Amino acid sequence: AQIAERKHILDTLRLNREQLMQVKNLISEDMVRGLSKQGRNRASIKMLPTFVGSTPDGSEHGDFLALDLGGSSFRVLLVRVRCGKTHVEMHHKNYSIPQEIMQGTGKELFSHIVDCIANFLESMGMRGASLPLGFTFSFPCHQSKLDEGILLKWTKGFKASDCEGHDVVTLLKDAVRCRGEFDLSFVAVVNDTVGTMMTCGYEDPQCEVGLIVGTGTNTCYMEEMRNIEMVADDDGRMCVNLEWGAFGENGELDDFLTTFDRSVDASSSNPGKQRYEKMISGMYLGEIVRHVLMEFTARGLLFRGKVSERLKTWGIFETKFLSQIESDRLAMRQIRCILQHLGLTSSTCDDSVLVKEVCGVVSRRAAQLCGAGLAAVVDKIRQNRNLQQLTVTVGVDGTLYKMHPHFAGVMQETLQDLAPQCKVTFHKSEDGSGKGAALITAVACRIRSNAL
Ligand code: BG6
Ligand code: GLC
Repeated sequence: AQIAERKHILDTLRLNREQLMQVKNLISEDMVRGLSKQGRNRASIKMLPTFVGSTPDGSEHGDFLALDLGGSSFRVLLVRVRCGKTHVEMHHKNYSIPQEIMQGTGKELFSHIVDCIANFLESMGMRGASLPLGFTFSFPCHQSKLDEGILLKWTKGFKASDCEGHDVVTLLKDAVRCRGEFDLSFVAVVNDTVGTMMTCGYEDPQCEVGLIVGTGTNTCYMEEMRNIEMVADDDGRMCVNLEWGAFGENGELDDFLTTFDRSVDASSSNPGKQRYEKMISGMYLGEIVRHVLMEFTARGLLFRGKVSERLKTWGIFETKFLSQIESDRLAMRQIRCILQHLGLTSSTCDDSVLVKEVCGVVSRRAAQLCGAGLAAVVDKIRQNRNLQQLTVTVGVDGTLYKMHPHFAGVMQETLQDLAPQCKVTFHKSEDGSGKGAALITAVACRIRSNAL
């Protein structure tokens, strides 16, 4: 009876092929809605124009700063691009963003960012230098040009006040002015998906999709201008930032949500928002697992039926533990060690087996959902171009994708199954998205100076 009870609970987290196909189709429909003037208010996938169209042609030159805000680390970079050379010289430093700044005022957040830039310039011996800057700002922004980004809403636990509805370039420039020590001559706002696509695209021109599976999840791809109704021009292509994490905000995923997803959502900083992201990305998977474990324990199926205070603690089950527990090389005894480290001391060998199974089911569903979304994206590109068969590269980054032992494999399997007419290669970004943001800035600066 216990086995049946466990299976029954875990089955709620399993998706079959038909359901995954349904997710793919729902995402395809929502993408079309998001691109259209009339439908976009009803779409949960916002399909944001990025004003990135041109790729580097090798004639770019100069020193650029890049900021990378919104992933698991905040980074300031100096990127040296030299005309005719494909190698880009990079220096970077990581800085922390304390919780109280993430959730304080916008003024405090941006003044902290500017302090970090000043510290970085100082450490590079470039105090007071005025450089163009590529700002990887990994949150949904409305853009009507490259050097403007109006923050639509915070995601991933950020909460700083007085930023939503404001242009982040203005907020940054105001903070720079306040400090009065250096200047920024131009600022391009770039989503991390776009930066990643460009980082990979510098080496592989077939890279026309950017994917992030890390703290959050999102995708961008090259769309035909004629399909982007919010932008007047009809020629050529522009990169569109899906902001697919928001999928499900209009109830599209309701049939697939479990009680665990609902609990994770309810205890998040943005209930009702980012429903797809909360089923996939690193910030939430450990939390889903923790909720399942609590349920099993409450039913007496785990940890001798004792729900410990530790198990009730938000965030103790970090997603990195999920990656470790699922690693094929780890024996049950080591899984028990991890559980003990989490304060779940009264675990038995059976407990370890069950915990591993729960982790596997939760991460498999995440990878399948992500694959279904990606299938919608690559099929859209294929249909746009009237092709029987599309060959495309996806530039990808994010700790979950890179660290998890099975995520990438399951995602690719699902993708291939749901988009059989697309041959997709994955290119892991080893340089983060800051390099891409700097290259985008370099291209914009080149075009500007050509126009003058
Ligand atoms: C990094 C990018 O490499 O990957 C970031 O430079 C991005 O911009 C990040 O946000 C995503 O990964 P994570 O796991 O740090 O959220
Ligand atoms: C969140 C952000 C999005 C970003 C993604 C990955 O979904 O809203 O802009 O690309 O996380 O970091």
